[in-house]
Amino acid sequence: MELFQGLVAVVLDDSIALSHTADALAELDVLAGWALLARECGYCRPVLDEGDGLEIIEGRHPVVEQVLRSADTVTARGATRAFVPNDTVLSCDDAQIVLLTGPNMAGKSTYIRQVALITLLAQVGCWAPAKSCRLGLVDRIFSRVGASADLARGNSTFRVEMNETANILNNATDRSLIILDEIGRGTSTYDGLAIAWSVVEHLHRHPSRGPRTLFATHYQELTQLEKHLPRLRNFSVAVKEWNDEIVFVRRVIPGAADRSYGIQVARLAGLPLSVIERAKTILAKLEGDDTAVSLPSPQARPKKKITVAPADDSQLNLL
Ligand SMILES: Nc1ncnc2c1ncn2[C@@H]1O[C@H](COP(=O)(O)OP(=O)(O)OP(=O)(O)O)[C@@H](O)[C@H]1O
Ligand SMILES: [Mg+2]
Repeated sequence: MELFQGLVAVVLDDSIALSHTADALAELDVLAGWALLARECGYCRPVLDEGDGLEIIEGRHPVVEQVLRSADTVTARGATRAFVPNDTVLSCDDAQIVLLTGPNMAGKSTYIRQVALITLLAQVGCWAPAKSCRLGLVDRIFSRVGASADLARGNSTFRVEMNETANILNNATDRSLIILDEIGRGTSTYDGLAIAWSVVEHLHRHPSRGPRTLFATHYQELTQLEKHLPRLRNFSVAVKEWNDEIVFVRRVIPGAADRSYGIQVARLAGLPLSVIERAKTILAKLEGDDTAVSLPSPQARPKKKITVAPADDSQLNLL
């Protein structure tokens, strides 16, 4: 106890110098960590300016990339899975909103998150996982991703989604970066589509500029908005079809996707074959009942009655 108290007294005598040293070492630790990361993982030095653009060439998701580098990423066919880099160009007054469609599992969420992470890393002073990166400073990064409930505080999953969306729409400025992942998925198809649609229109409401936004969605109807909103650009994550199988190539390309391949992904996940076959039948029937929408007003869209034959062939009203 005597020895310990002696030590405490010595430390207390020098407490100010010691805490300054600890602060300096902590900062050095972060900077050395970033430097090592930048060198070992091929990060680039971002260029930050006062403009309102964002240009990332060959950007990567820093975490997914690391996971894929680890030992267990050799596929069943023996190929190594490497992270596929993608470019991003956004600006407040030109390509303001990227509407990203594409199949399940294609890489949409990864892509929009990587843009937010690269922006964050660049603005805190770290190098970024990209070949090159030029960023007009952002004031805040807003994200609405994933599904979570807040039951203890009386919020359902959808209510949380809407709370977060409201926060974004009420607080984003032209200098903000917004990523929205599948807005509207937590409610009925038509309610969700209508909300997603009007959120996009709201973000584009100013005649000449608005916050840089990445919007991932399975509502392919929204891709028609490109004809009406001059600052919206359709992009999709490419896949290849091969013998009724889907091959993910992870490339973000200009243009809209026309299918989600949800049933193929459900089969990959191991849903019972009978469920998959039945889902295919229902899908064929639903797609036969044309569900096309007319722009520009969601309210003007007639409520469609979709009927599907259930397993015993009697008619079942879905809507
Ligand atoms: N650029 C990429 N290179 C390599 N692998 C990737 C890439 N992007 C995504 N992946 C892999 O694909 C998986 C699925 O990606 P992600 O969740 O982004 O798909 P998604 O399009 O959002 O699908 P969903 O519509 O089902 O939400 C990720 O877990 C990741 O392992
Ligand atoms: Mg996703």
